[in-house]
Amino acid sequence: MISVQLTQKKFWENDVECYIFLMTENLESASDLATLDKVENDFYPHVKEILKKHKFNGKHGQNFVLTAMRDKRLIQFMFVGLGKLNNPWHRELELLRRAFAGAIERMKGLVIQNAVVALPDLKMFGIDAAELVKQLTIVAFMADYEFTKFKSDKKDKEWAGTLLIETDPKDHAMFIQSLQQGTVIGQAVNQARNWADLPANILTPSELAKEAKQIADEFNLQCTVFGEQKARELGMGGFLCVDAGSDQPGKFVVLEYNADSKNTQNKNIPTVALVGKGVCFDTGGVSLKPSDSMHGMKFDMSGAAAVIATMKVFAQLKPNVNVVGVMPLVENMPSGKAARQDDIVTFMNGKTAEIRSTDAEGRLILADALHYAEKNYNPEVIIDIATLTGACAYSLGHFYSAIMTRDQALCDTLSAAGKLTGDKVWQLPLEDDYKDAIKSDVADLSNTGSKAYLAGTVTATCFLENFIEKARWAHLDIAGTADGVPGVNYMGKGASGVGVRLFVEFVMNYKKS
Ligand code: BES
Ligand code: ZN
Ligand code: MN
Repeated sequence: MISVQLTQKKFWENDVECYIFLMTENLESASDLATLDKVENDFYPHVKEILKKHKFNGKHGQNFVLTAMRDKRLIQFMFVGLGKLNNPWHRELELLRRAFAGAIERMKGLVIQNAVVALPDLKMFGIDAAELVKQLTIVAFMADYEFTKFKSDKKDKEWAGTLLIETDPKDHAMFIQSLQQGTVIGQAVNQARNWADLPANILTPSELAKEAKQIADEFNLQCTVFGEQKARELGMGGFLCVDAGSDQPGKFVVLEYNADSKNTQNKNIPTVALVGKGVCFDTGGVSLKPSDSMHGMKFDMSGAAAVIATMKVFAQLKPNVNVVGVMPLVENMPSGKAARQDDIVTFMNGKTAEIRSTDAEGRLILADALHYAEKNYNPEVIIDIATLTGACAYSLGHFYSAIMTRDQALCDTLSAAGKLTGDKVWQLPLEDDYKDAIKSDVADLSNTGSKAYLAGTVTATCFLENFIEKARWAHLDIAGTADGVPGVNYMGKGASGVGVRLFVEFVMNYKKS
């Protein structure tokens, strides 16, 4: 695993194997020129010519390594292109994340044990140096993540490199805090990714519940786990009917972080509830998915994974907000005990739904989870996160999660958090006209939007809205963003850990409304 640390020494005084330079396009900035002069004078008389010959000119995505000798030891110079820096700040910040991640990947590929990098000029990134250190630390961890547990040739050969970030010694305490926050967040993102990457024969609802319990024990969170019996007492017909088909028992998991641990009833501290869809595998149930569409359905618990990982962050960073994480964990399987189409279920809040498709299972478990969260914790805000609809992946692709809410201020806050953290959200409408799509002739609701209305992502949200009474609420559909994000180096191949960075940013800055 990578270790990110700060150095208070001057850049060149660091005794490391590798010196990383973040260069802007055309190599014209003051710091680019200073770098090139230094390298040219002390190590490589022809470095400018060499870079030119090999067409390194600081374009985004370029990465060029030169080897030299210093004090009789081999050292590397890594030149990393940042590009022109002429995009809006959040785009530049994202491109910087990728350039930085590229440097980490290169370090790893060259088995470099330690390297030093200086912060780039802040102007284009719209954030202060402390925030930048935090963001770069997070992405360093994300870039290092690989799911190798079942790769015989890789799993024991873990790279352990150290990256030093040069920061101003006079603000050391501030930067240390950024580094610690970034480390906690980056590791949590990777933990969420690891759970999502684990296949359903390994990570069953019981196993994931166990992981949540372990975190609670280690970090002093409250944890409640119950199964079928208690769910039956509570009348959670939605949770139960999805759980029914599987031989793996479903688990309803609740994690609580209390800002005032001495007085958990402190009325002055607001509560935020995070609700995550936890379908450890989604076959579609009796409405069985075609084989191709079932591929990747181990990721259908990515929402729950994000919430559990986020709760672990709060246990460490201790925001001044109470947070409750609610995760209904099930496996959606066909069997003689499974729910059928035409079945009618009654949820914990008394509403009923006709099952038109057992493959629209996410909203059934979330219905009970949303109501449970609101009823037991009276949160000011509820945000749920779910790989809910294939339609969302089609409409927005892999780079934006969909957000739907009637609370524009909440949407704007989350959008801003997305721009800063890279967990971007894009708003889709939530309006009464769509509500008719989920009417049923025989129950209060149909669990599938009528074909005539299309907009499956929005009609699913209309369904969920029935289980919110008065809290400010936003629904995030991460069907497209949870895994398989193409072309973003630090996201890797499998799970993305989407939601963790967004939630942490949202809650750490939450102000009582
Ligand atoms: N887990 C799926 C949604 C999904 C699809 C996530 C593809 C990621 C990639 C969800 O449970 C589902 O099956 N949704 C159905 C809903 C439909 C039956 C109303 C869908 O999107 O087809
Ligand atoms: Zn699903
Ligand atoms: Mn489904």
